[in-house]
Amino acid sequence: MAALDHWNPVLLARELGRKPVRVHLDGRPIALFRDRAGKVAAVSDICPHRRMSLSLGRVEHDRLVCPYHGWSFTAGGEGESPGTPKLRCQIDTYDTREEHGTIWLKGSGREVPFPTFPIDGFFRICEHRHLVQAPLTLTIDNFCEMEHTGATHMVFGYDLDRLSEVVMQVESTDNEVRVASSGPPKPLPWWVRQLMGARRDAVFHDNWVTRFSPVHNVHEHDWIDPRTGRPAWFRMKIVNLFAPANADSTILTLLVYGKSAWPGPNGALRLARPFLRRVIEAEVRRDVWMLDHLGNKTEDLHGMKLSRFDKPLGPTRDRIQRLYFGSGDSARRALAVRDGD
Ligand code: FES
Ligand SMILES: [Fe+2]
Repeated sequence: MAALDHWNPVLLARELGRKPVRVHLDGRPIALFRDRAGKVAAVSDICPHRRMSLSLGRVEHDRLVCPYHGWSFTAGGEGESPGTPKLRCQIDTYDTREEHGTIWLKGSGREVPFPTFPIDGFFRICEHRHLVQAPLTLTIDNFCEMEHTGATHMVFGYDLDRLSEVVMQVESTDNEVRVASSGPPKPLPWWVRQLMGARRDAVFHDNWVTRFSPVHNVHEHDWIDPRTGRPAWFRMKIVNLFAPANADSTILTLLVYGKSAWPGPNGALRLARPFLRRVIEAEVRRDVWMLDHLGNKTEDLHGMKLSRFDKPLGPTRDRIQRLYFGSGDSARRALAVRDGD
């Protein structure tokens, strides 16, 4: 139940057109559809008549029509049957929002504020969604440590041969986990460095904060000139969001933002968007591949040989249990600090 106490991203906005789409959240099958005005509705994906999947139906006059016997349902979940007009029924509905190029769901009527992200002044480059075949905790583990970037990634992250030089600091409060890391980046082609305004000996900084309603972290990527301490003119922020489709799979959503001080306000980023989108998608697929292919999907960390890079995993998992999978009151506590920011 607790996942429904939070706003969860479940689908990219561009993935929902005229055809309804089935998603799962916390093990529940949910049918998403748009009315004529484009507003998103979310209802149970099980027809109360004989359990047909409503998302395989069609939308007619703002009603979702079951393909089996033609019963139809409003966005508010009220159903009627063409063959027995007096037989009315009600199915579960969910609250929806469309923000940041993404469709978000929470349980109907749950009182929880919509999350905010520190992206002012940044330009949205792209968004990505994957259904990862691993539980939520194993999925977020990958986004709470930088050791994997050396071997897993091609462009972003630290140089595998100099990983031992990377330094890292972890600070936790009741409601968040903050990590600051820095070290030698992967070597980038000279023309990429040129476009980013990054020196050959730039130090890569990956700082992130993880919060829990919904479970997400915001990574800041900077390439800093070691002489002046100034960042390159290209900077990135990536919001990684995690929602449990069910106990074994996780909806991973990435909202990718950039800022470029050259040449003019975000002009180059608009042009570079298709290229960046391809590079980032390839990198995310590498994360997803690793998670899909873990030899064992047990979440317990006891008995594992954890490295110094794995330090954020414990405090992050602890807060997921307490603030996300806890009660509705916990959800409000998870947001208390954010509101006061
Ligand atoms: S199963 Fe949906 S109308 Fe019969
Ligand atoms: Fe990664």
